[in-house]
Amino acid sequence: MRISTEDTGITSWPERALSDAAAAWDKLRAAGDMTGWLRLPEEYDRDEFERLLRTAEKIRSDSEALVVIGIGGSYLGTRAAAEAIKRNGVQLIFAGSDLSPNTLNNAAAQLGGKDFSVNVVSKSGTTTEPAIAFRFFRQLLEKKYGRASAGRIYATTDPSGGALRQMAVNNGWTGFNIPPDVGGRYSVLTAVGLLPMAAAGLDVRAMMDGAAGTMRSCRTCGADNPVWRYVLARSILYGRGKKIELFTTYEPSLHYFLEWLKQLFGESEGKEGKGIFPASAEFTTDLHSLGQYIQQGERHLMQTVLYVEDTGSDMLIPRCGEDTDGLNYLAGRPLSWVRKQAFLGTLRAHVAGGVPCTTITLDKLGERELGSLFYFFELACAMSGFMLGVNPFDQPGVEEYKKNMLALLGSARG
Ligand code: PA5
Repeated sequence: MRISTEDTGITSWPERALSDAAAAWDKLRAAGDMTGWLRLPEEYDRDEFERLLRTAEKIRSDSEALVVIGIGGSYLGTRAAAEAIKRNGVQLIFAGSDLSPNTLNNAAAQLGGKDFSVNVVSKSGTTTEPAIAFRFFRQLLEKKYGRASAGRIYATTDPSGGALRQMAVNNGWTGFNIPPDVGGRYSVLTAVGLLPMAAAGLDVRAMMDGAAGTMRSCRTCGADNPVWRYVLARSILYGRGKKIELFTTYEPSLHYFLEWLKQLFGESEGKEGKGIFPASAEFTTDLHSLGQYIQQGERHLMQTVLYVEDTGSDMLIPRCGEDTDGLNYLAGRPLSWVRKQAFLGTLRAHVAGGVPCTTITLDKLGERELGSLFYFFELACAMSGFMLGVNPFDQPGVEEYKKNMLALLGSARG
C-alpha cells in the first residue's frame, strides 16, 4: 500500500499541525477502554480464532448460504470484504440493514431451497433492524429444520450483556464475542467480520497478517508514518474549507468498502458541529453523473482515491475491421491500461479544478491488502477524531432517530 499526498497542494507539514497530530496520537494511545482494536492484529485470542475457523468449516459443510444479519459496523466490513474478494465458500446473503420488506423478501427468495445458517451480529443485541430480520430468518430456519435449527444459528454479540447474548444462552446457539473494548465500526477484525468471511472462503489469517503488517509499519510518531500523512493532509484541507471527503475508486467491487469508510468516518467524526462529511463515488461510472460537480461545483471537496493496479482479470480491446468508432488505436491494449489513463487524467483534471487528492495505491487486492486497509483507516479515523477534538468512539446522535422511532412504534424503550 502506498499513500501519496503529492496532489493535495500541501508542500510541507506546518508545525502546528504536527503538534496537534502528536497530541491526538498520544490521546489515542491513552484512550484505553475503547481501543482494543488497536492491538487486535497482534493480540487476538488464538483459541477463539481457531474455534471460529472450525465453525466456518462446519457452516461450509452443512450450508450453501449464510444469512448475515446486522447493521452499520455489524455488517459493512463483512460485506466490503465479501464483495471485494470472491472465494469458494458459502454464499453470504445480507439482511437486517434496513426496514424494507423487499430486502427481506428478496433475501428469502435468494435462499430458495438452499441449506442455510444464520449469523446474527449485534453488539447491543437490541437494534431494531437486525432484530426484526432475525425473527424472520429464525422462523424460516425453524420451519425448515425444526429443533435442529438451533445448531444453525450463530450469534456474535457482547460477551455478557444484551438481549442477544441472553437468547443465545437460553436457546443453545453458538456464540462469538465482540470484545467490550471494540466498538461496532472498529470490529471488522473480530468475529463480527471474520466468521462470515471465513465461511465465504476468505483467508482470514492472511487478513490478520495484513493488518498486523500495517500495525507495525504505522507505529512511529511523526510524518514518516503513512497514517499521520493521511490524517495531517485531511485535517489541513478541512481547515482550508474542504468539508467533504470524497472517497473514490475505479474498482466497483470496492463499493461496500467505500460504504464501510463512510460509516467509520461519519459516525466517528461527525459530532459537536464538526467533522468532514464522508461521501463516495465510483469511477469512471460517476464521472458521468457527479463528474461535472466535482470538476466545477462548490469547492468544498477533497478526494481520497483508492487505486488498485491489478484487479485480478483483464481483457484486450479487440480490433474492428471498419473502425467506425475510431477505437482501433486502442486495439490490443489491456482494458486495465485504459482505466489507468482514465485515473491519471481524472486526477490531473480534479487537482487543476481545485479538488486536492490523496492517493492510496494497492498493487493488488487480496485478504492481506484488505486487512491492511481496514487497519489503516481505523487508525486514521480514530486519530483524526482526536485531532478534531471529538470522541471517535461514541455515536450519541444515532440515538435521536431511534428514540423517536421507538416512541412512534409504541415501544417501552421509546
Ligand atoms: O459503529 C457502531 O457502533 C454502529 O454502527 C453499530 O455497529 C450499529 O449501530 C449496530 O449496532 P449493534 O451491533 O449494537 O446492533
